[in-house]
Amino acid sequence: MQEVYRYIEEFDNIILASPIYFSELSGSLLSLLSRVQTYFASKYFRGEDTNPKKKNGVLILVGAQKGTEEKASATAHTVFRYLNALPCVANVFLLNTNNVAAIDDNVALKQSQDAANLLNRLCEGST
Ligand SMILES: Cc1cc2nc3c(=O)[nH]c(=O)nc-3n(C[C@H](O)[C@H](O)[C@H](O)COP(=O)(O)O)c2cc1C
Repeated sequence: MQEVYRYIEEFDNIILASPIYFSELSGSLLSLLSRVQTYFASKYFRGEDTNPKKKNGVLILVGAQKGTEEKASATAHTVFRYLNALPCVANVFLLNTNNVAAIDDNVALKQSQDAANLLNRLCEGST
């Protein structure tokens, strides 16, 4: 995690991408993200001013059908808050894998491309 924390201090963009499992982010992603609780603890328990650098956040969620994305999205936005990545610059939700594989979902792929272009523009603007 020390290496990951170093990235968190330095990077400009964060993209959280996950399938929706039982209305949540995937278990493996939640295991990793639970470690950013250290930023909450340093601010509210230890009274330190350790906000990581401001970042551009993008959330990509993939699910079988609409209707279960709310909790996963809320969890991701909580993590974005700890990572100083709010407001999130783009949310890309692909919620129809029951009928269309994500790779064939042209609307979602266009939204993903737009999000990537937005991150590039924001990074160019900040240099
Ligand atoms: C254990 C498990 C739980 C799941 N729970 C949800 C869910 O709550 N909502 C949903 O939209 N899709 C759910 N899915 C479907 C996955 O999101 C979907 O499989 C994933 O986005 C990848 O799509 P694919 O299986 O077509 O490759 C679940 C899948 C698994 C394996």
